[in-house]
Amino acid sequence: MALAAARARLPLRALGCPLPHGLVPVAARRCCGEAGGPAALPPGGYGVWQERAARDPAGFWAEVARGALRWDSPFHTACQACPAGGAARWFLGGRLNVSVNCLDQHVEKSPDRVALIWERDEPGTAVHVTYRELLDLTCRLANTLKKYGIQKGDKVAIYMSVSPLSVAAMLACARIGAVHTVVFAGFSAESLAGRIIDSVITYNQAVRGGRIIELKRTVDEAVKNCPSIKHVFVAQRTDNKVWMGDRDIPLEEEMAKAASVCAPESMDSEDMLFMLYTSGSTGKPKGIVHTQAGYLLYSAVTHKYVFDYQQGDVFGCVADIGWITGHSYVVYGPLCNGATSVLFESTPVYPDPGRYWEMVQRLKINQFYGAPTAIRLLLNYGEEWVKKYDRSSLKTLGSVGEPINNEAWQWFYHVVGEGRCTLVDTWWQTETGGICIAPRPSEEKAEIVPAMAMRPFFGIVPVLMDDNGKVIEGVDVSGALCIAQPWPGMARTIFGDHQRFVDAYFKAYPGYYFTGDGAYRTKKGYYQITGRMDDVINISGHRLGTAEIEDAMADHPEVPETAVIGYPHKIKGEGAFAFIVLKEQTAHTDHVKEELKTMVASKIAKYAVPDHIVVVKRLPKTRSGKIMRRLLRKVVTEQSNNMGDVTTLDDPSVVKEILDAYQKYKEKTSL
Ligand code: WT7
Repeated sequence: MALAAARARLPLRALGCPLPHGLVPVAARRCCGEAGGPAALPPGGYGVWQERAARDPAGFWAEVARGALRWDSPFHTACQACPAGGAARWFLGGRLNVSVNCLDQHVEKSPDRVALIWERDEPGTAVHVTYRELLDLTCRLANTLKKYGIQKGDKVAIYMSVSPLSVAAMLACARIGAVHTVVFAGFSAESLAGRIIDSVITYNQAVRGGRIIELKRTVDEAVKNCPSIKHVFVAQRTDNKVWMGDRDIPLEEEMAKAASVCAPESMDSEDMLFMLYTSGSTGKPKGIVHTQAGYLLYSAVTHKYVFDYQQGDVFGCVADIGWITGHSYVVYGPLCNGATSVLFESTPVYPDPGRYWEMVQRLKINQFYGAPTAIRLLLNYGEEWVKKYDRSSLKTLGSVGEPINNEAWQWFYHVVGEGRCTLVDTWWQTETGGICIAPRPSEEKAEIVPAMAMRPFFGIVPVLMDDNGKVIEGVDVSGALCIAQPWPGMARTIFGDHQRFVDAYFKAYPGYYFTGDGAYRTKKGYYQITGRMDDVINISGHRLGTAEIEDAMADHPEVPETAVIGYPHKIKGEGAFAFIVLKEQTAHTDHVKEELKTMVASKIAKYAVPDHIVVVKRLPKTRSGKIMRRLLRKVVTEQSNNMGDVTTLDDPSVVKEILDAYQKYKEKTSL
């Protein structure tokens, strides 16, 4: 491959891993499937697959799974309803190893193909890692984990910025059957400590946008409140020394001593692969569980068909591995398909707003997948930052995580993609494992409707529900978005609380998976997502429960009550807006507000901090004591002439009070 020959060879120290890289013997594997290239569907085409997958999901996915994955032993049953209710199980009786599918099978055929291009924070210092090198790193890391007693089923937190070593950490867990839970490096010590984990892999520090983030220090704090953590493996991202205690293990030193071959654990299709914590409308974040075969298959097939990925393409998904997008479209989907996947460690504006496009030019990226929030930010800086760079390598552009507004879509399509690239708006969720609704570039470029996810992927059967739980037929209608049939990528449970899983997703509309989103079916039968129907908000593509932010502020001694809502934000999509009640009106109001902001940052993360905090005498409550957030939303979006039904309010005069407080705040802050 031309790319392999031309790639920059930086000292391996830059990998955070000073290892000798010799030829890696490939573990002997029994295999009953033919795999190697991108996951391919049987002969047909979009229409044929869609019809077949909807009519016979088990038969369709069984055929795809046999061809696309490498199995240790074949499955006997493609799909089975879960006896405890909830999501179906897939590929029962089958055994495989995910890391073998992502690494060994490619190393056998093309060991020098580039697996990862690490676009480090420091511009122009990209590091290329071949499949052989990634297998080597993964095996050494896996052997290190094993040496410290980590076994199949153990929970390993990965609290790292995106890098070849963090990808190797995920794959090392997969290799030995440990369960990884990647925690976004922006989350606080308290968030980290709230995850159920046995050990942590981290960096001494992270680097982002030219700034140092003290990862190890945050881990130290988390560990104080988390006695279950037995080991902390510390890798070096920078040369700075950090404090090392009894529990801490220098990762690279151990990896250098470890063997570069590690026999993969043969896993059941339905064993846990990872959990990823995400917010719901109530309570603390929940550990969404994905299993081995179904998840891997679905991420690989969607990666190939939604982005029209072809062998040899350089795939650039700029998401962090701390989110599901990073799991499915930076790591598992692309690597299972033998792709070259870009790891983007920086920010869209560092060192300047041309960063993405300079990277596209330098790395010759063919598919670029990012979030609307970044596009909205960049379009403010003007077109010159884009046009300066050659983007002729680009074929497909993708958008994910939140609704993309028309202005951002048009700019992405016309300015970035020169009107030449296909732009796919992809709708999915942590729970769905992979993309569920998106246009398919190879089939319908001319037809794509701006800012619309449009069409279900093969095997996804969306339905819209009315308030009475009845399916809404026909076109030009809106309702609650549900999915009627099982698909392999669906999450299987919430860790440790299956009932919560069943209640959250399968109770509202029995027999259907409820997404939490609303959708509109157009006259042509396409789907447009209209937004969350619950108290979940989406700040810069990051999902948060408003209750979580309220909980984080609940301990303030001077603030007995708070109510948080999402409000439209020009760049972030949504921001958090808080209404608070003070015990007594003090002169220190501004100080209290600052304290509340600090509490949210230290209990959750910086991005969760409310942009605005308005003090009110009391919150709008119904006679049964429930806060009427709908009314607060009307105030903030300035639709107070259209408050809706307020007859259930305990005291309707509260409306005027809140409007006055909001008005005063607005005058003071030029909101
Ligand atoms: C929620 C899921 C998808 C991976 C990243 C976010 C919203 C996601 C879109 C889109 C409109 C979207 C939904 C969904 N969302 N993609 N293309 N258009 N809304 O995963 O953190 O699990 O959040 O993000 O509201 O329910 P997540």
